[in-house]
Amino acid sequence: MKSLKEVYKNYFKIGAAVTAWHYGSCKELIASQFDTLTCENEMKYEGVHGENGYDFTKADELYNFAMENGLEMRGHNFIWHNAIPAAKFEQMTPDALKAHITEHIETVGNRYPKLSCWDVINEAIDDKHGAYLRDTVWKNKFGEHYVIDFYALVRKLLPNARLVYNDYNEYYPEKRQNIIRLVNELRAEGVIDAVGLQQHLRTADTTPDMLRYMFEDFAKTGLPLQITELDIGAPDRFDPRSLSELSAKEVEAQAQLYADAFAVYREYSELIESVTFWGVSDEQSWLNYFINRHECTALMFDTNHEPTEAFYRITEF
Ligand code: GLA
Repeated sequence: MKSLKEVYKNYFKIGAAVTAWHYGSCKELIASQFDTLTCENEMKYEGVHGENGYDFTKADELYNFAMENGLEMRGHNFIWHNAIPAAKFEQMTPDALKAHITEHIETVGNRYPKLSCWDVINEAIDDKHGAYLRDTVWKNKFGEHYVIDFYALVRKLLPNARLVYNDYNEYYPEKRQNIIRLVNELRAEGVIDAVGLQQHLRTADTTPDMLRYMFEDFAKTGLPLQITELDIGAPDRFDPRSLSELSAKEVEAQAQLYADAFAVYREYSELIESVTFWGVSDEQSWLNYFINRHECTALMFDTNHEPTEAFYRITEF
């Protein structure tokens, strides 16, 4: 079997999201295929806070695995509207919440000093037409300027960390314009180092030209780009059918979109630092749980950890 990181070594780093319950069954595969890892959930707020305070068991395990195998690891994430006790945070005064989250960022950031970067704020842009920042506990407590304030805070607390802004639906024009507006505001303050494009792509509506327009627009920010959460589900994530209920044509469309997406990534490789898949194998994909549980093919390795058709399409060009 070819190695993804070998095939792409002259283009960009190749990464995968890993999860404590899953990585143990495919350690060699991970170490031989990927340059960089991201904890799927284990470094999020709720990933490191147990019932009785901090619990770093799972995050430590994944971080140590990455470091012992000479792999990079991305930090994901400090501030998000999910994976937090939102009701509890809503009840706190802005000062108390600020003090609490400052302590959290300092503690977690300093525990993992060798991470390659941090997604400081994840998904701050609203999806609704005409809207800008998403309504979250963070915006409610700290106002519209909270994004810039938090990036400045993390810059001060962790001066050696590379700071990333990460968001999804970045290949749709209106959402992208808002992401770029925010990124430019952060850039003007000198508090951002790279942009994370999640790339949860959809066979239903994604074309190679949509990806080219996306790269052309993000290139104007002047910042390096990271593909942070790539996957393409067959079925599409809004389609409740199981893999076995799809036609051969629908399954083929997934492999073809992978081939097309990587052809575009290679065209724009000078802008791209890394391409991270959102999972190692299909048994680990969040798409199995989105809408309702179903079987899908979404990644480079199937449930038996064998290469999928998409693996061959992106490694033979
Ligand atoms: C978003 C987040 C990820 C993950 C996925 C679904 O994209 O950034 O951390 O939760 O949703 O798994």
